[in-house]
Amino acid sequence: MFEQKKWNFCSIKVIFGLFCLWTVAFLMFFARHRHIKMADVSLRSDRLSPTTQAAFRDNPSLEQQGGVLPRQECIHPQLKVNDPVMMKFFRKYPPLTCSGQKDWIYVDNGTVRFSKPLHGKKNNFTCDYYPLVRVGDYEYKWGLPHVDIKDGFPMTSDFFRAVCKRGTREQYENIHAGVSYSKQRTERPRDPLKSGFEGLSIAILGFDSMSRMSWLRRLPNTRKYFHDELGAIELEAHNIVGDGTTAVMFPMLTGKFEWELPECRVNFKGATTLDKFPFIWHDMKKAGYLTSWANAAPKSAPFNWRMLGFKDQPTDFYPRPFYLAATPTFKRFTSHCLGSQTQSKVWLNWFRDIFLMYRQQRKFLFHFITDMSHDDNNLMTQMDDDIRDVVKFLHDGGYLNQTVLILMGDHGARYNKVRSTWSGKQEERLPYFSFLFPPWFERKYPDAMRNLRTNTKRLTTPFDLHETFKDFLKFSGAGKGNVLARGISLFKEIPLERSCEHADIAPHWCACLAWKNVPVGDKDVVKALGTALLTINGFTKEYRSYCALLAVANVTMATKLETRAEVLKFKKTDSNGGIYAIDMSDKNKNEMALYQLTFITTPGGGHFEVTVTQDVIKGSFDLTEKEISRINKYGDDPACILDKNRQIRQYCYCSRS
Ligand SMILES: *[C@@H]1O[C@H](CO)[C@@H](O)[C@H](O)[C@H]1NC(C)=O
Ligand SMILES: *[C@@H]1O[C@H](CO)[C@@H](O)[C@H](O)[C@H]1NC(C)=O
Ligand SMILES: *[C@@H]1O[C@H](CO)[C@@H](O)[C@H](O)[C@H]1NC(C)=O
Ligand SMILES: *[C@@H]1O[C@H](CO)[C@@H](O)[C@H](O)[C@H]1NC(C)=O
Repeated sequence: MFEQKKWNFCSIKVIFGLFCLWTVAFLMFFARHRHIKMADVSLRSDRLSPTTQAAFRDNPSLEQQGGVLPRQECIHPQLKVNDPVMMKFFRKYPPLTCSGQKDWIYVDNGTVRFSKPLHGKKNNFTCDYYPLVRVGDYEYKWGLPHVDIKDGFPMTSDFFRAVCKRGTREQYENIHAGVSYSKQRTERPRDPLKSGFEGLSIAILGFDSMSRMSWLRRLPNTRKYFHDELGAIELEAHNIVGDGTTAVMFPMLTGKFEWELPECRVNFKGATTLDKFPFIWHDMKKAGYLTSWANAAPKSAPFNWRMLGFKDQPTDFYPRPFYLAATPTFKRFTSHCLGSQTQSKVWLNWFRDIFLMYRQQRKFLFHFITDMSHDDNNLMTQMDDDIRDVVKFLHDGGYLNQTVLILMGDHGARYNKVRSTWSGKQEERLPYFSFLFPPWFERKYPDAMRNLRTNTKRLTTPFDLHETFKDFLKFSGAGKGNVLARGISLFKEIPLERSCEHADIAPHWCACLAWKNVPVGDKDVVKALGTALLTINGFTKEYRSYCALLAVANVTMATKLETRAEVLKFKKTDSNGGIYAIDMSDKNKNEMALYQLTFITTPGGGHFEVTVTQDVIKGSFDLTEKEISRINKYGDDPACILDKNRQIRQYCYCSRS
């Protein structure tokens, strides 16, 4: 089912010789008669990709051997933020405002506050506080009320209903969420955690159905702040391992596939609730962490809509009862509002409030929201500034100095319209995932963080996240990951040779491209080579009297990478559990291919490795400077231009030297 890569060395010498002569002639012609656009090619001094550099660092003799580099087995397709197919589904909504009566009360760090105008007027304002009590995952009740509470009343529960009166006619009733003070939470005994990361907290904000590309399209302000300004690290080749949300949650939180855990599905024989499942939050709690599992959709919550949910409250903070009680009231308000606040603000504020109240405590928080993005990613555009603002608040308040903050999607959009396109299929498999560590962490664990940065370009999965979380309790070291292990902590280097098979990703979920041997005489290989040569010669164009026009002397390797047949055919899994692919009737065609080529140029014998992208629909080929590596030593070859332009030294062979 999996194709192994095989290097296609041009071994049939006769054919090869003929081909080479022809290629040289063709490419020389090509090079002289076409212009290439250089404007968008930014020159960086650092020529080799980090991967290639690392390969050289680990094995210096490679450079002398002339560039047979260890290759990364899993290469993902290069997706585009402005992909026209996907942009058809894009809409930007203006920020949401909630009309109607302003809330009479609000919550401030565990206390109930009266809104100003009411407070000021002495008009017989009274409020009763009814604590919300969880009975089970599907049932709640109201506890005995605190009657006529005063402004600043310390909450006795995280969720409550307020019934307030003003004068004889006006009445207010609403359900509120906050984080109450509790001695038992404050004084949670802690493990010394000698070999973990000193009790660094983990806080996760997750959004349903947000692929990496969708995130880049719809949350530009959040990303600009989190990634560009604060320096969050994004996984760029993070691949799902199954269908839908639970196929991410179980691997991430338990290290297991659903079918490796006890039966928990509604209406299945012998099914149990999920209380005894090995969720990592249980281990975190034992080590003294305050924990949360938060989802805002009582019907479609990951562990509740087709599973039996939890008999006992699974985590310290658990807003499910709140959403059970509040959801039926939503219809009284502007859509996506709860009273005068947007539901997304209520959601984000509650996340924030845990930090306000329990700043010092170790925390493992997993807040995963479904309804803002599940049916339509576009609603996320309304939340962009709110997410950024809460991250900024926590950062500026110093709350993130003891926390790794994770922003993530579980998988990409799964609606049929999107899923039936080539781009949609790739995006579904590649969710957004990013981490922000406090600055001291990188200084203290430089090896672990270097590996994490390397791994952003390697194949990673939710199983790896589980191993990563375990390192917070007991750090297992920052060496090289074992390629045979299904999950590898991201603080270890993911081996280059890791494939979907190693990572236990079924072929129809595997977005890594399939490797195919192609003859070097293939017409598309020739076109790809032509594009590469034009680009390389383009760099030295202005210095032609110094740098020779290069031609290709020998193609040493040609490989094509394209989307797996199983991904193109995949339509859906069975509806109960999403475990097996039952419908493989889609007929998507490959729309993109990558050509990885290594070749030798003449004069001068430069060895190059390039990756050229083919747009199959348009029939065009494209590569940027990032995708070109000079893989043998250039020595003194470019001596004549070093004082003129050092940036092009890899491409320049001084014709007069
Ligand atoms: C407030 O309540 C008192 C006693 O019940 C009553 O006399 C007074 O008229 C009320 N004031 C207002 C503004 O309703
Ligand atoms: C919130 O209240 C708690 C308990 O009274 C207190 O320890 C904490 O410092 C408060 N946080 C802020 C930000 O005021
Ligand atoms: C952040 O945490 C580190 C390590 O615990 C500590 O040395 C540093 O002083 C803290 N910085 C701030 C601003 O709190
Ligand atoms: C071209 O490359 C092949 C494979 O590395 C090698 O066997 C052959 O000698 C090379 N030919 C030339 C002309 O360099």
